[in-house]
Amino acid sequence: MLKTPETTTAGEVSFAIHATEGTARTGALHLGRGSVRTPAFMPVGTAGTVKAMYVDQVKDLGADIILGNTYHLMLRPGAERVAALGGLHEFSRWQGPILTDSGGFQVMSLAGLRKLDKNGVTFRSHIDGSHHRLTPERSVEIQTLLDSDIIMQLDECVRLPSTRKDIERAMRLSLDWAERSKSAFGTQPGKAIFGIVQGGDIPDLRIASAEALSSMNFPGYAIGGLAVGEPQAVMLDMIETVEPHLPREKPRYLMGVGTPDDLIESVSRGIDMFDCVMPTRAGRHGLAYSRFGKVNLKNARHAEDPRPLDEASSCPAARDYSRAYLHHLTKANEILGMMLLTWINLAYYQDLMAGMRAAIAEGRFADFKAKTKENWARGDI
Ligand code: GUN
Repeated sequence: MLKTPETTTAGEVSFAIHATEGTARTGALHLGRGSVRTPAFMPVGTAGTVKAMYVDQVKDLGADIILGNTYHLMLRPGAERVAALGGLHEFSRWQGPILTDSGGFQVMSLAGLRKLDKNGVTFRSHIDGSHHRLTPERSVEIQTLLDSDIIMQLDECVRLPSTRKDIERAMRLSLDWAERSKSAFGTQPGKAIFGIVQGGDIPDLRIASAEALSSMNFPGYAIGGLAVGEPQAVMLDMIETVEPHLPREKPRYLMGVGTPDDLIESVSRGIDMFDCVMPTRAGRHGLAYSRFGKVNLKNARHAEDPRPLDEASSCPAARDYSRAYLHHLTKANEILGMMLLTWINLAYYQDLMAGMRAAIAEGRFADFKAKTKENWARGDI
């Protein structure tokens, strides 16, 4: 276990590693708007709201930072409008740090509605079919208008499986866009821009991407292009491949991941930050994450079960309501069902992260990981 804090500074932004166990680390990323305890899970607030949650609830669960999306916010309500209304923090009332994704990944999923060239991507809005363009510079400009605290470079993410040729082309394009995004960002006190490692499932391309980005000296690095169709083992292999090629003293963010098991396995391999729609989306579809794994509350076996989901949970929704009531709300598509299950799931994710942070700090992460996985394997009781 490492006892001496390791700190790196970039403007007012700094990252301190407080303790390590193997490759796992715990620490804090300090930004102008506040600190993010790591490893951190960032709830996804795509359109300026963590769906079905009040901002105070999100904060009370222990989330230090949330996510916003360039793509959605540029289309509706528009970045200039958000800026005129005082920025995304003022607009949404979330006062802590916000990380915004660059838009590239969301545009990629538009399939037929987009056209990529070396300077950016032109696409049609999924809302009204209107035409829009994102370049590395415009993406940074939009994220700056939103007043984002962590800006992501524009990149191209390729779905897997794919050919080496396509993966390499997207990786090299993303490197070019990394440089352009970083220049466009300039220096913004208290804020950071992260580069994104691409390279699909091909180790030498992943290493080339990580090394080229590292030489650009970003305040933080994301690993993108994973959880896009490959098995978990491939994703974990890619993290292990990339990790030694990223600077130890900078934060590492695994984009769009994942299940509770993905989180614990990735923290073991040196990841500091995550985001994923899974806990919020699952909550709107009748699925709960708990100490005993995933529970489908739509299942008829819960219909007459008076027990709470988990009497030991930190979340009142998991302790105070019966499984029968949660089942009923879910079956009836009631808004409250979505609210309660989203709350339960985000609480579980935040508690899992807090548990990992404490375990690493106290040198018992291996034991914590084994016990947590044992409980999941035991299943719902
Ligand atoms: N979200 C999940 N994966 C990715 C990725 O590869 N790039 C970006 N920009 N966002 C992501």
